[in-house]
Amino acid sequence: MSLFGVLRLPNEIVFGVGQRHALAAIAARTGKRALVVTDERFASTPAFAEIVASVKAAGVSVHVHDAVLPDVPRDTVAACTQNLGDFSPDMVIGIGGGSCLDFAKCAALLLRHGGALQDYYGEFKVPGPVLPLIAVPTTAGTGSEVTPVAVISDPDRTLKVGISSPYLIASSAICDPELTYSCPAGLTAIAGADALTHAIEAFTALRRDPAPELAQKHVFVGKSALTDHFALLAIELLGRSLERAVRDGGDIEARADVMMAATAAGCAFGSAGTAAAHAIQYPVGAVTHTAHGLGVAALLPYVMTYNRSASAAEFAQVAIALGIDPGGRDDVDLAQAGIDKVTSLFAAIGIPVSLKALGLVGDQVEWVASQAIGIERLIKNNPRPLDLPAMVRLVQAAFDGDREAAA
Ligand SMILES: NC(=O)c1ccc[n+]([C@@H]2O[C@H](COP(=O)([O-])OP(=O)(O)OC[C@H]3O[C@@H](n4cnc5c(N)ncnc54)[C@H](O)[C@@H]3O)[C@@H](O)[C@H]2O)c1
Ligand SMILES: [Fe+2]
Repeated sequence: MSLFGVLRLPNEIVFGVGQRHALAAIAARTGKRALVVTDERFASTPAFAEIVASVKAAGVSVHVHDAVLPDVPRDTVAACTQNLGDFSPDMVIGIGGGSCLDFAKCAALLLRHGGALQDYYGEFKVPGPVLPLIAVPTTAGTGSEVTPVAVISDPDRTLKVGISSPYLIASSAICDPELTYSCPAGLTAIAGADALTHAIEAFTALRRDPAPELAQKHVFVGKSALTDHFALLAIELLGRSLERAVRDGGDIEARADVMMAATAAGCAFGSAGTAAAHAIQYPVGAVTHTAHGLGVAALLPYVMTYNRSASAAEFAQVAIALGIDPGGRDDVDLAQAGIDKVTSLFAAIGIPVSLKALGLVGDQVEWVASQAIGIERLIKNNPRPLDLPAMVRLVQAAFDGDREAAA
């Protein structure tokens, strides 16, 4: 098999403790007028006041929108972009969790191209570059600071929707682990588990025939040598440090590991894509109203078990990246050890062990399966093919908490 790779990334990723202080200089070379979007929580912190003051001191005028809500309700974006008065931004700076970063992407899109967000749902619907975007995450999880997708909730639709376009990739991502020190244990666990799910689903995403038009027609193109590199880095860092960061939020080495892992996982799945765990989470999240990371992580051990026969070699590599000593074991044995390790890590950080524990009820299983199988852009990425009966079996196994029933 010949080497193949696709990687779409920001122009610059700046990572390290204190790097948020680089924002002023980066903003000053990006433009003159910044729309800064964040949520109420971060807007009330001294760190935010300091950031805004430094950007202004660098000669950039600033309009702050500090009303981002979790999961980005659709109309909140236009409510922001249509109420700027005389202020005409030439860049957008998003600071916060995945919701703030996704909001910033949507604002940069509407400010450049107008229309309504609904016009851009799906893949490759954004007609050209959006306003330059600087993304500064305060959670270590979604990877949105480097990915080509914004996820929002639409009051007219049951499931959340995505806008996927290479034009939505931030021009600069500034990742400062210090901004995550205030994350409580539960948020650290949920966001970090989302990152591990991104990395493992990207690492096992179906490998496509590397035709020249592949990456021109699809945003997510399956695993490749370049995305594998980032996925394995993320898995290694999370294996080493996720549980530590959840147990002791003051462990600054673990915090940095988890944040770099989240960004690296974003670099992997932003080109490779994710698969069945993310597809099933869309309907599960819609009915249980639970956090995205909690759902994908609860599902991951079942999806890995379903995929075990197709991805033994990859799961064996996952096991080694998670710190398991191969000790002469074959791929099948090691793959199982990798699945067991993910299961025990998630149990240790408080991820629910089944969809029942997540709040799903039994008569919703068929509906969840039928919705999930319809999310084609993710289902097509799964390494073992899925049809409706297989999906029903997988969702039922995850509901019952019976991992082997998913095989
Ligand atoms: N665009 C992508 O590539 C991508 C990938 C995965 C998930 N997502 C989306 O991202 C969203 C989830 O993002 P998230 O998990 O980062 O959470 P979030 O942005 O929704 O924030 C959740 C809560 O955590 C708080 N918070 C954020 N940073 C904090 C900090 N440092 N200290 C204390 N509290 C803090 C927020 O104020 C909020 O109340 C979902 O909408 C999900 O669908 C997007
Ligand atoms: Fe995710």
